[in-house]
Amino acid sequence: MWTFSCPLIVYGDHALEYLAQIQGNKAFIVTDKNIVKLGLTKLVTDQLDAVNIQWEIFDAIEPEPSLDTINKGKIAVGKYQPDWVIGIGGGSCLDAAKAIICLLARPDLEPDAVSVIETFNFREKARLMAIPTTSGTGSETTWAVVLTDPRDDRKLGLGTTEDMPDVAILDPVMVAGMPPQITSDTGMDALTHAIEGYASTWGTSMTAGPGLIATRQTFAYLPKAYKNGDDLEARQEMMYAATLAGMCFGNSMAGLAHSTGHSLGALLHTPHGRAVGLFLPYTMEYLINGSEETTAKYAELARFCGIASGADKECAQALVGKVRALAKEIDQPLSVQDAGITQEQYEEAIPGLIERALNEVMTFTVTRVPGVEDLGKIFNYAYEGKSIDF
Ligand SMILES: [Fe+2]
Repeated sequence: MWTFSCPLIVYGDHALEYLAQIQGNKAFIVTDKNIVKLGLTKLVTDQLDAVNIQWEIFDAIEPEPSLDTINKGKIAVGKYQPDWVIGIGGGSCLDAAKAIICLLARPDLEPDAVSVIETFNFREKARLMAIPTTSGTGSETTWAVVLTDPRDDRKLGLGTTEDMPDVAILDPVMVAGMPPQITSDTGMDALTHAIEGYASTWGTSMTAGPGLIATRQTFAYLPKAYKNGDDLEARQEMMYAATLAGMCFGNSMAGLAHSTGHSLGALLHTPHGRAVGLFLPYTMEYLINGSEETTAKYAELARFCGIASGADKECAQALVGKVRALAKEIDQPLSVQDAGITQEQYEEAIPGLIERALNEVMTFTVTRVPGVEDLGKIFNYAYEGKSIDF
């Protein structure tokens, strides 16, 4: 038995006007200071004001929010007792909103207890809305929550299936001002979600559709959105692609680029999208070399996107070539070395990188599961920018 879940998705020009239709009295907005400064929260609160919904802003969310920050959010939301919790921002703000709404319902718990083990029933108190301001994480359409434990700098993969937002609002005005670097980094995250979700061993025909379209639209529109942020068609298509990619991997699973990229992000602080995008072509090559099944899936993607035709292997390799070409076009690092990590730093980190990757479920939802030795080789090849030949 499989399930496919996603929020009510309100999208397109003026999508924020949906806020005037919601039922409720008080909204608790979870965001960061920069989003407030950019005036993006005001676009939301103006709509709430127009229909007399009270609101309070909690703007303390930092990238990869810490347990301490979520604890502060728990106290603030507990005092306010809203009937809506609205996350506005990138993945960190949306993830934080998911954790905070759980703790509104279960103030007896600590933030690191926001997991599938507990029951929250938070909808008896409030509903959850996600309004993304970046196009990549897909957090608006997944239940995953990533927090950081500052005591040992550990990233915690949390969340409960209850945490799927009730509503996601995709309004192009919210992403129009995204800086090029964030457009590029988060766009690579979307591409990685689409390709890995499509090829996942947990993927089905239900998740394949969103994965196909997300891959095609990302190849077509990410370079445009990166080079010309005012291209609103490109902004809109990338926003849709990111959500579709979230629907794809959120209902299947990501893969090796995420397990290796997550490890790099945790130990050497490379931003998430940049890290997973960096490992994507290497891990794709690794799967092509050992799995006809995944090769065939990559070939389907390549044909659908109009990249290549012909035999599976050639098509799959052409897809890898296209990923590298896109990365180059949007100024992403093509190797770990390019990402500014010194050989010394990296060599010291490798045992930890391997150990972390082996602790990620995403290492095991692919058709060729690497062990310690192969992971070590993948990390080494990716440092030098060498194609995977094993
Ligand atoms: Fe991701």
